[in-house]
Amino acid sequence: MIPSPRPSVSKLAPYVPGRPIEEVEAEYGIGGAVKLASNENPLGPSPRAVAAALTAVREVNRYPDGSGTVLRRALAARHGLSPDQVILGGGSSELIDIAVRTYLEPGDELLAPAAIFRMFPVAVGRAGGTIVEVPTLAGFRPDVDALLARVGSRTRILALANPNNPTGGYATRGDLERLLRALPDHVLPVVDEAYFEFARETGDYPDALDALRGGRPLLVLRTFSKLHGLAGLRIGYGFAPLEVVAAMNKVREPFNTTSVAQAAALAALDDAEHAERTRALVRTERAFLLAELARRPVTAHPSLGNFLLVDLPVPYAPVDPEFARRGVILRPMAGWGFPRSFRLSVGTRDENVRFLGALDDVIGAGLLRPEAPVPASAR
Ligand SMILES: Cc1ncc(COP(=O)(O)O)c(C=O)c1O
Repeated sequence: MIPSPRPSVSKLAPYVPGRPIEEVEAEYGIGGAVKLASNENPLGPSPRAVAAALTAVREVNRYPDGSGTVLRRALAARHGLSPDQVILGGGSSELIDIAVRTYLEPGDELLAPAAIFRMFPVAVGRAGGTIVEVPTLAGFRPDVDALLARVGSRTRILALANPNNPTGGYATRGDLERLLRALPDHVLPVVDEAYFEFARETGDYPDALDALRGGRPLLVLRTFSKLHGLAGLRIGYGFAPLEVVAAMNKVREPFNTTSVAQAAALAALDDAEHAERTRALVRTERAFLLAELARRPVTAHPSLGNFLLVDLPVPYAPVDPEFARRGVILRPMAGWGFPRSFRLSVGTRDENVRFLGALDDVIGAGLLRPEAPVPASAR
């Protein structure tokens, strides 16, 4: 007999990441596949970050500075906050997990707009809590009134991913202000801004740090994984009142971010050129993809992030292998509640053209016709 895990773990649906390039290439016997499945930076990491990481790696015999003092100071200075209002995590994913474990007892609730980034339900499940997802308005915009109406005595966190992955929808400045003003004191707002730098050009998109600087108690999460291209190093950060940071620090592993990641992140912060190139690429290529997709029998939702949610007229699961064997890795969205959709990361022009070529092939093969036969590869 093998001992059983905790019942709340047995019930857990694990987070399913995008498929690695090597795995797909090996399965289909192909080379040169492109991965547009995990909202990564197609320009690679900041070169300054790479140089700093290479230097730092020489001293990995030492434990890291557990709280990342230098990086926290730099982040605090940049955002007009104090270093004890900053916490680092192994990606913002870890900070989601830490926040949930810090604030939810088993049976407590995390309230969120429907289809929120899937790390939230995963973290809540691990903690033995309950996620309450509230239907969104048109365009996947959070419904502030419906969210507020669902706040109960067991609600401990109200989470927003702004903009949300995979829907691309967002809460406007007015939405966020109204929500923060009306939330009762026993609820911690958590605003996940993983795509902040891509979204901030949109007129009514809010910077949640304004609310924190204005004295509202909330946790704002950001990451080095997207704009700065450091997803593989796993480093993200959060800003909150010092009481919240102090509580989360009790739950955090003492050495949760590596010295290499801290050094790379610090250098990336100073690489304005790489950040600007990345933002410009996403702006141009997202518009290119939206225009191209509008000419095809699919529906792409507008997005403030470096990704698009794309609906097909047929279920996506049988079509996914058809993209994969053409060397294009996309993210199936059935597990996120969208069985007819995939999520497409904005790539370089070459990668995007490659994707469109594969899509045209799939369309040409009749695979997107509602009555299409199941492709051989999916039988
Ligand atoms: C909305 C959102 N939040 C957080 C993350 C986590 O990023 P990381 O853990 O790499 O910082 C992602 C990654 O895709 C995301 O889409």
